[in-house]
Formats: sequence, C-alpha cells, structure tokens
Amino acid sequence: IPVPTNQPCWNYVPGTESAIKLKQACEKMRKELPYDVPLIINGKEVRNGKKKEQLICSDHKNVLCKFDVVDENLIQKAVDGAMKAKKHWEELPFETRAGIFLKAADLMVGKYRYEMMASTILGQGKNVWQAEIDCIAELADFLRFNVKFAEEIYSMQPKINPAGMWNRVEYRPLEGFVLAITPFNFTAIGGNLPTSPAILGNVSLWKPSSTSILSNYIFAKILQEAGLPDGVIQFIPGSGSVIGRTLLSNKNLGGVHFTGSTEVFKHIWMEAAKFTMDTYKSYPRIVGETGGKNYHFIHESADLDHVANSTVRGAYEYQGQKCSATSRMYVPKNVWPKLREKLEAIIKQIKMGQSDDFSVFMSAVIDKASFDNIKNYIEGAKKDPDSEVIIGGKCDDSVGWFVEPTVILTKNPKSKTMVEEIFGPVLTIYLYDPDKYEETLDLCDNTSEYGLCGAIFAQERNALDYAVKRLRNTAGNFYINDKSTGSVVGQQPFGGARASGNNQKAGAIINLLNWCSPRSIKENF
Ligand code: NAD
Ligand code: ALA
Repeated sequence: IPVPTNQPCWNYVPGTESAIKLKQACEKMRKELPYDVPLIINGKEVRNGKKKEQLICSDHKNVLCKFDVVDENLIQKAVDGAMKAKKHWEELPFETRAGIFLKAADLMVGKYRYEMMASTILGQGKNVWQAEIDCIAELADFLRFNVKFAEEIYSMQPKINPAGMWNRVEYRPLEGFVLAITPFNFTAIGGNLPTSPAILGNVSLWKPSSTSILSNYIFAKILQEAGLPDGVIQFIPGSGSVIGRTLLSNKNLGGVHFTGSTEVFKHIWMEAAKFTMDTYKSYPRIVGETGGKNYHFIHESADLDHVANSTVRGAYEYQGQKCSATSRMYVPKNVWPKLREKLEAIIKQIKMGQSDDFSVFMSAVIDKASFDNIKNYIEGAKKDPDSEVIIGGKCDDSVGWFVEPTVILTKNPKSKTMVEEIFGPVLTIYLYDPDKYEETLDLCDNTSEYGLCGAIFAQERNALDYAVKRLRNTAGNFYINDKSTGSVVGQQPFGGARASGNNQKAGAIINLLNWCSPRSIKENF
C-alpha cells in the first residue's frame, strides 16, 4: 500500500489546457441535459419509472438529471444482494480490495476529472476552485488515506505473546450492511461514506442526497470501472424517510454512516434506539457528522487584514454551505471600525453568477427550501430591534437561488442568527468590550449547542493560550489564526462533538474502527 500524499489541486488558469477542457465539459453537460440516472443494484442499472429531478441551482429552469428512486421492494432487493456480495467481498485479500479503491482515485483524478468537476459545478453550484478541492482533491485523499489507515488497523496486534502462545486480533467487518446516508454539499463525503466501510470488507447501501445525484452517480460508475464487485455498494437514491424507515428496522443493519443535519441525525438515532437484539443481530454502529455554528473569535492584537480575508473566505466560499462555514464572529469594539472597512472592501469585490462562469466567487444556494430558509433568517434579522443587516441581504430567485453575501451586526449575543445554523452566506457579528475578553470567550462557549469548528485570531501569545484552553469544548476542529473551513485529509481529521455529531473524524483511523468488529484469537502451540 503506497504511502499517500495529498492530491495536488489544479487552478484551471484561463487559457490553459485544463481550463479549456473543463469549460468544454461544462458546455457538453449543459447541451446533453437532462441526464438519465438509474439506481445501481447488484451491479445492474435499475429503472422503475419513479423519477425525481435534480436542477441546476444557479439556473433552475434547467433539469440536470432525472433519477429513479427506490421503493421498499427494491430496497429489500438491494439488502439481499449486498448480503450475498458480502460473503465473497470480505474473503478477498485486503490488498485486492485496497487496489480497487486506489484505482478509483486514479480514474477520478485522471480519466473522469472533467465529468466529476462539471457535475459538481453545475449540480451543486460550486465554483471551479470549490469543486476542485472537493470532488477531486478531498475525495482522492479519502480513498488513498483510508486504505492506508485500514492497513494500519490490521497491523495493530497484541504486543505480548508468552512462550507457546500466539495472540492476535482479527479485524472482522461488521456482520450486517452499512447504511451510508450522504449530504449534498460535498461530493467527497458522498464518496467517502459508503467506501470507507467497504475498504474493511463491509458492504454499503448508499443513499445519496437528491441534490447531488449526478456527481455521486458518476463516482458510483467509477467504482464499478475500478473493479468493485456487484452488490458491494448499492446506489439507491430516494426518499430519506422511506429508506431510513425501511433500513433502520432491518435485522441485517450493521451500521449507519451519516453526514447531514443535526435534525435528521437525531431522528436516525431515536429510530435505531427503538430496536434491540429482538430486531438486530448486533447493536449497529452509528456514526453521525452533523451541523455547525462555527465562529471566528478576534482578539484586539489580531492582524486585521488576515482576519478580513479569512472571514470572507470562511463565511462565503460555497455560499456558506459548508458544515464548517464561519457564521458568527466576536470582535472587540476598538478594532471594529477598521475591520468593518476591510470587510466591506473585500465583500464589494465578490462576483456572483453561474457556477460554470469561471470568474465567479459565489453562485446560488442549493434549492428553493434552502433559499427560503436563508431569506427568512435575513428578514427576521431586519425586524429584530437588536440586529441590523449592514452588508448585503438581497435574495433573488428569478434565475437561480441567489443570496448576497450578508453581514448582520447584533447587540444580542444570543440572537437567532448568532445561535442557529443557517447554512447560507450569512455572518453575524457581535461586538465586545476588549476588557471583557475572558468573559466573552465563555459567552462564545455557552452560545451554541454545536461543537464543530472555531478559530481564534490573535498575535499576543497569552491571549491565544487562554483561548485555546477556554474554548476546548467548542470545536472538534479548532484553528489558530486560520479560517474555520478547509480541513485536509491526513492533516486535520474532521468532525465535532455536542450537536455536531459523535466526532468520529472523517478520513481517520478513529472512523474506520467503527466498521470493524474485532475478534481476539489466542492459539496455544
Ligand atoms: P440533510 O440532513 O437534509 O440530508 C442529509 C441526508 O439525509 C440526505 O441524503 C437526505 O435525503 C437524508 N435524509 C433526510 N431525511 C431523512 C430521514 N428521515 N431518514 C434518513 N435519511 C434522511 O442535510 P443536507 O442539507 O444534505 O446537508 C447539510 C447539512 O449537513 C448541514 O446541517 C451541514 O452542517 C451538515 N454537514 C455536516 C458535515 C460534518 O462533517 N459535520 C459535513 C457536511 C454537511
Ligand atoms: N472538510 C471540510 C472543511 O473543513 C468540511 O471545510
């Protein structure tokens, strides 16, 4: 197993071959739409006539693809096929399984790069850079690093073997199947959740988000081309509630690998908790990576140019639709006038438009429900006597679901937009008295139920050290003088606690351990 390195990112500089090819891929996709996306069950394309649509979010009159959705009969067929495939899959040598995922990574960054990129750009509304760091770099990293982590797990063996005894641990896959339920906002997460258990010999039923179907389907096809046997990963788009209800009560459920909102994960947790050994063969492993209310905390000694740049990137890249997006900020009153000027100057330059226009920084949000939700938060802030929308705030859904980069200033540190996940390009700022630095750190800790990402910006060492300690439980990914977004596989394992999930760190050994049921073997000789 090769020692992995992070996949280098391409820049698609205008006029270069990569930019021209990517442009052509986007144009081709627009010409050929709507694509027809079947289910993939037991390696076969299945069409059952029950169709839903994925729209281009920045151009919502256009349907990107029409996709089939599963019903209960097909879900059962997928379970039966997966359980059959499992027998052969888990017996394969680890190196054979690993080779398939390594080949998939190479196919993705090579032969299928432009299709992956175009489908993520048009389907999920990512600009070129955001698509590159997601469906190429991060997904390739997940595949390559997870294979290495699996190898490390297999090598974790008891250190003591008294004379005449051989102790060893067999990292068996789970007895049942893993249900992988994935969100729209990262193609990489779509690919990671079903594959990471499969590397260890598990089979997965993959329920992708209905708003990221095309890119996820292309990846499912890449896995097939890389040699993944039929039935090991079943691709079953459809209704979350139908799939959840049917599979969470299935006796062969071995685990749930979920990323998405806190609300849906709470529901999954409660559903699974209803069942016991009367239903399941083993208690299922349940892993959930969920929402965030991520902060930038600014000390008066911070470098304000760096704060302004980092905050604009953290809050508005991918329209604020990252679980890690910066959505609340604490600023000392004495530096605010300067920082405000700097923020306004950068935000003024932000270009919005179609995601396949390579010069845009922001495009549309994912769908109408999301647009309405974000708009409600902004309208609510306009009516709140403690809050003021000081930058942006306009929403326009005539062509696509566009929301301007928005800044709200609030006097109430527990106002709705300071506390709740909005999942859009909205940043709320609370100004504090610099003499109350320590109390305000406590306030930051006590403000949100989430615990995903946070950042402290300061140049004074004492201020930094104090914040690192005081904010210990606020974030599973904590940054010192860097934005709250942009973790890299193999560098900063990703995940949070509190209402942000059970912190099983995507792309790390801790995550993969969930998908094994170790057997200790003692042999005398
Ligand atoms: P979502 O919760 O709406 O949907 C996630 C998935 O769950 C989708 O596939 C959806 O169809 C499915 N689903 C919906 N209802 C279900 C049910 N009753 N049973 C089973 N499955 C069901 O989330 P989203 O809008 O796709 O993604 C955005 C959310 O994901 C945000 O809250 C964001 O913070 C979070 N997220 C977290 C991380 C992380 O690593 N912590 C990463 C990315 C996104
Ligand atoms: N890995 C993504 C980030 O940190 C979620 O922004």
